[in-house]
Amino acid sequence: MLSLVPLLGACEPAKVAAPTGGMSDTAIGGEPDTGEPETGNPDSGPPETGNPDPIDTGPLDTANPWDPDTLAGAGWLRGRAIGAALSTTAFAKDEAYLSLFSENFSSLTPENATKWGLLQSESSTWDFSDAEGMVELAVNQGMAVRGHTLAWHNQLPDWIDDDSMAETFALSVQAHVESVAAWDDGRIETWDVVNEALEDDGSLRDSIWSQDLGSEWVADMFVLAHEQLPHAALFYNDYSIAWLNTKSDAVYAMVEQMLADGVPIDGVGMQVHVSAGSAPEPEDLAENIRRFGDLGLEVHITEMDVQMRDIAGVDDARLFAQARTYHRVVSACLEEPACTSISFWGFTDRYSWIDDHYGADDPLLWDEDLQPKPAHHAVMAALRGEPLPGCGEEFITNGDFEKGTDGWTSSWGNTIEATDRYETWQGVVQDITHLVAEGIPYEASAWVRLDGADSDDVSLTMSIVDETETTWPHIMDTTAYSSGWTELSGTVT
Ligand code: G3I
Repeated sequence: MLSLVPLLGACEPAKVAAPTGGMSDTAIGGEPDTGEPETGNPDSGPPETGNPDPIDTGPLDTANPWDPDTLAGAGWLRGRAIGAALSTTAFAKDEAYLSLFSENFSSLTPENATKWGLLQSESSTWDFSDAEGMVELAVNQGMAVRGHTLAWHNQLPDWIDDDSMAETFALSVQAHVESVAAWDDGRIETWDVVNEALEDDGSLRDSIWSQDLGSEWVADMFVLAHEQLPHAALFYNDYSIAWLNTKSDAVYAMVEQMLADGVPIDGVGMQVHVSAGSAPEPEDLAENIRRFGDLGLEVHITEMDVQMRDIAGVDDARLFAQARTYHRVVSACLEEPACTSISFWGFTDRYSWIDDHYGADDPLLWDEDLQPKPAHHAVMAALRGEPLPGCGEEFITNGDFEKGTDGWTSSWGNTIEATDRYETWQGVVQDITHLVAEGIPYEASAWVRLDGADSDDVSLTMSIVDETETTWPHIMDTTAYSSGWTELSGTVT
């Protein structure tokens, strides 16, 4: 009998190796005839604790304004706003999209509609109509709004001229923030004041902002924003800063200095555009969030999506890998009181910037037909403090020879009759390629009992076939007996 179970440790926040190369064929069982045995199980991950703190309550004196079976409602019970970026084109034409959004989210971020270039496409013309529609929707539905973004090196108005005098640019920035503030009129509670001002190495990005406004431009923008938008929580927002690395260290140092200088900053937005399998380690995420919280800042997960197009495996397994990434990031946020809001960059695969910028993908929580994906169930489970759905489920359901030999082949010929066997490495094989995804640890377990010898050496191995070679890592080697059943088990990633 063979069983293959995604480890519970894989489902709770757990360490996962980044994928290395495509796995094109994987089988489990049998013994190898060549190659050094790879003893030692892979890292079995941290202990299976990891459930977030006991359920935090939302505001105690008010009833949950959201259906608890929606992301918004489940988030409210944990004291978190759950949001999504709203596409301008979909907002204008897709009613099903809009009602799904309205039912499920308690926070709205205009994906593009509040960016400078879209508000002031001509130097003399302001157009808040797209942004206004979204803010009215949010206000009517009782949602929070994350204004995005006052200062960014992308999506600037075309008429902003890189070669203009610094003074001219500063005046344009001042007019831009004043106009936004006059339109906003206290309705938008959070603004991403500055977006992506740092490079990956932590240095200040070379842009018109740094060139024309100087090295202190980030702090200066917060001062300006606070003057104009005194009601709003003011955030610095960036990508690749959700876990501990050079860039998040630099953001930490920058905001720490801003606080020391009395600059009005309230929080840090962590974008979390990641790929399943290369997602941040949960411990890193939590520790990183915590250090910003210890400065007295709030943290928002602002733009989460999880790309899958480069992940090997069949759809179910890839969707599971994606769901796991969502689960661990949301769980990490819930572990840290400083992390008060989680927003996704869109919510349905019908509309995602990833398709346009990188190629066809399915990075979000609902599919193109607006049906919830495993990623959606994973976020719900995380919000409820539950493990990832599918974890602990046995993937091989007919692994028991007593129930028949369906699904089994041999590593030496067409039958699995022991009489065909002529080498010690020859064993019975079950193909698990259709069940697994890269980067997920599984527990494999097989039971063996000898017939014809009192005892002998046995191995449970895995055959991994990729473009260049085949390897046979041993999952476990032991001695089996005729007198009873012996379990061979271990973790495979
Ligand atoms: O507005 C024009 C439209 O007139 C034209 O017909 C159309 C043709 O392609 O393009 C439209 O502009 C597009 C714009 O989105 C509005 O839809 C741009 O081509 C397109 O490049 C732009 O992409 C946006 C991107 O920021 C710009 O860098 C994405 O939708 C948006 O999701 C993305 O969001 C950013 C966050 O603001 C910051 N963090 C990273 C995130 C992803 O890049």
